[in-house]
Amino acid sequence: MSIHTEVKRISVPQLMAYKGEQKIASLTAYSAPFARLLDEHLDMILIGDSTAMVGYDMPSTLAITLEQMAAHAAAVVRSTRRACIIVDMPFGSYQESPSQAFQSAARMLALSGVAGVKMEGGAALAPTTEFLVERGIPVLAHVGLMPQYVNSMGGFKAQGMTDESAERIYNDALAHEKAGAFGLVLEGVAEGLARRITEDVSIPTIGIGASPDCDGQILVTEDILGLTGGRIPKFARQFADVGALISQAVGQYAEEVRSGTFPALENCFGVKKQAGQG
Ligand code: KIV
Repeated sequence: MSIHTEVKRISVPQLMAYKGEQKIASLTAYSAPFARLLDEHLDMILIGDSTAMVGYDMPSTLAITLEQMAAHAAAVVRSTRRACIIVDMPFGSYQESPSQAFQSAARMLALSGVAGVKMEGGAALAPTTEFLVERGIPVLAHVGLMPQYVNSMGGFKAQGMTDESAERIYNDALAHEKAGAFGLVLEGVAEGLARRITEDVSIPTIGIGASPDCDGQILVTEDILGLTGGRIPKFARQFADVGALISQAVGQYAEEVRSGTFPALENCFGVKKQAGQG
């Protein structure tokens, strides 16, 4: 008799029910090996378009395509069983109109199997959030520092530092809540503003460079593992130096290849065992 233990994935409504009950722990993943390791520990995994910069060394997130994001997302879905998987909609795939956004998001869901999509935008994007949610696509809205707006923001700068900008971001957050977003990513916003939004909305807020009082936190996995070439952003913390481990292991491999100690005969096929060998 085989014992089959089914692990149920955390759903979007379950994530929403965490508000006020337990914090949402979330990170990014772009590939199967990372997603497999992250899955048992996290409530939500995001295939962030930050992969454009982290994984492809692009100067911004603007040039990654829907097909590229869908391929990364499908790999993450296939290699996980527990965490709720959300993907970033890439720049240009949703800003034109609610119907363009629906077509793109529906294609993304079909290609990857994710549970929902994240879109960056202020109150002007709220009708698009509503359009998708009404048609069965859960939306995580991303406000504050929006990397897809790097050109209009004049760089990756913290937001909500003046009363005027804080009020605008507050209204952006409330507009997406009203439109039916299941959660809000608050990126690079003043701490007090993130706290105020978290207190005033009924949906979970997930902070990155925001406030410890957000309902959850998200970071780019490479930032916490020492895989970004020694550059740790102010809002992150390095929990391990995996970069140093990789460098040490690869150095040893190269040395053994050059000295002829790798491969050994035990790594080869068709080698006859000598008498006395086990
Ligand atoms: O693209 C990304 O990784 C994000 C974050 C919120 C981490 O949007």
